[in-house]
Amino acid sequence: MFNKIMVPTDGSEFAKKAEEMALSLAEKLEATVVAVHVIDEKLIYPFEVMEEDGKEILSNVQKKGQKMGVKVEEVLIFGNPRHDMKKISEKSGADLVVIASHGRTGLEKIIMGSVAENTLKTLNMPVLLVK
Ligand SMILES: Nc1ncnc2c1ncn2[C@@H]1O[C@H](COP(=O)(O)OP(=O)(O)OP(=O)(O)O)[C@@H](O)[C@H]1O
Ligand SMILES: [Mg+2]
Repeated sequence: MFNKIMVPTDGSEFAKKAEEMALSLAEKLEATVVAVHVIDEKLIYPFEVMEEDGKEILSNVQKKGQKMGVKVEEVLIFGNPRHDMKKISEKSGADLVVIASHGRTGLEKIIMGSVAENTLKTLNMPVLLVK
C-alpha cells in the first residue's frame, strides 16, 4: 500500500518515536523510508554546527534502518521546517508521512508543535501523527 514513507525528524525523543514507527511500517510493507531534516534558516547557530547536527540525526535513522533491513534515503535541506514539508514530500515521492506531535520545544504546545501542525494542514496525503 505505501511504498515511500517520509519521516521528518529533529532528533528529539518525540521524533525518535516517529522514526521507529516509520521504520517498523516500512519493514512490514517492504517500503523505503525518507528521513528528512530541515536546517532552520531562522536559527542563528553557525551553519556548520547545524549541518553536522542534521547529518548526525539522519545517519542515526540510516543506522537503525540498516539493522532492520530497511532502505533509508536521507534528505538534508536548508529552509523553513514549518513551510517546506509539503514541497519535500512531493519531491521525494512519499505516499505517507509519519510525524511526531512534538519536537525539540517539548510539551509546551498543547496538542502539537508548529511543524507537526503545518504538516497536517498543508499536505495532501495521509499523515500519521505519532504521540
Ligand atoms: N527542522 C526539522 N526538520 C525535520 N523535522 C522536524 C523539524 N522540526 C520539527 N520536526 C518534526 O516535527 C515533529 C514535531 O515538532 P514541532 O517542531 O512541531 O514541535 P515542537 O518543537 O515541540 O514545537 P515548536 O517547534 O512549534 O516550538 C518533530 O518530532 C519532528 O519529527
Ligand atoms: Mg520544533
